[in-house]
Amino acid sequence: MVQHTAVYFTAFTLLITAASAATGYHNHTVGGTAGWFFNSTTNTPSTNYSSWAASQTFNLGDYLIFNTNSNETVIQTYNKATYLNCTADDSDNGTFIYDSGSSRFSEALTVPVPLTTVGLNYFFSDTGVDSVQCSRGMAFEITVQRGLGLPPSLNQPPPPPYAEPPGPDTEAQSPPVTVAQAPNGGGAFGRRADKWLAVYGFAAAMLMLR
Ligand SMILES: *[C@@H]1O[C@H](CO)[C@@H](O)[C@H](O)[C@H]1NC(C)=O
Ligand SMILES: *[C@@H]1O[C@H](CO)[C@@H](O)[C@H](O)[C@H]1NC(C)=O
Ligand SMILES: *[C@@H]1O[C@H](CO)[C@@H](O)[C@H](O)[C@H]1NC(C)=O
Ligand SMILES: *[C@@H]1O[C@H](CO)[C@@H](O)[C@H](O)[C@H]1NC(C)=O
Ligand SMILES: *[C@@H]1O[C@H](CO)[C@@H](O)[C@H](O)[C@H]1NC(C)=O
Ligand SMILES: *[C@@H]1O[C@H](CO)[C@@H](O)[C@H](O)[C@H]1NC(C)=O
Repeated sequence: MVQHTAVYFTAFTLLITAASAATGYHNHTVGGTAGWFFNSTTNTPSTNYSSWAASQTFNLGDYLIFNTNSNETVIQTYNKATYLNCTADDSDNGTFIYDSGSSRFSEALTVPVPLTTVGLNYFFSDTGVDSVQCSRGMAFEITVQRGLGLPPSLNQPPPPPYAEPPGPDTEAQSPPVTVAQAPNGGGAFGRRADKWLAVYGFAAAMLMLR
């Protein structure tokens, strides 16, 4: 009887573990309750983001949730030089700028950033004269692990390789444009698209290697 209970308990525990592994994507609230804020009076970030990042495990398909306002920006980059320089370079295809387009100060924002690339990812806020927010510690790096891989919602199919050239009367049938989440401005869409292409290419390469 006792053994049976133990066996059932073990099976139950395994089931629970399997279930949480199957849906094991996590949302990480950046800075915990401190959020992603900078105090422009004291010139300090609201918490130590490196310490916060060191307390978490990041996997593909997880999101970073930045609870912030329009006084800060969220820059994501795979380029360490960009991170160390605290400067977002628009022409850098490994850098993504998430902003609200808001021109007002102190407007509350929540910025979700999906983690779609394995390895080092860097984040900072480039606001202020000489990127003072970044240089005063509003910056952190994380290492993203493979985990369960990208969920289908973040693993978009590639664009078709060839599109039928439009005929004389197809003007009304131009394909719908899907704008990806959160890029700023028109330039970012292209960079974002490059990224999806890279993600898909990587996935295809992995399949071919199997
Ligand atoms: C994580 O955040 C994303 C983006 O805001 C959202 O779509 C998803 O439902 C969240 N997942 C969980 C488990 O809260
Ligand atoms: C910034 O810090 C000062 C001094 O500690 C404090 O009085 C003020 O409320 C803080 N501002 C914000 C927006 O948290
Ligand atoms: C933040 O924490 C890290 C350790 O996680 C430490 O090395 C660093 O000096 C801290 N930064 C500040 C400004 O206290
Ligand atoms: C570094 O940042 C400065 C401005 O803070 C900028 O003028 C310079 O072009 C940046 N260098 C690189 C390599 O991005
Ligand atoms: C980014 O640009 C560099 C050259 O500037 C190129 O070698 C690289 O393949 C590009 N990466 C992506 C993901 O498009
Ligand atoms: C946002 O920035 C403006 C202008 O620097 C400042 O007056 C305001 O207190 C800031 N708000 C917060 C919440 O830090």
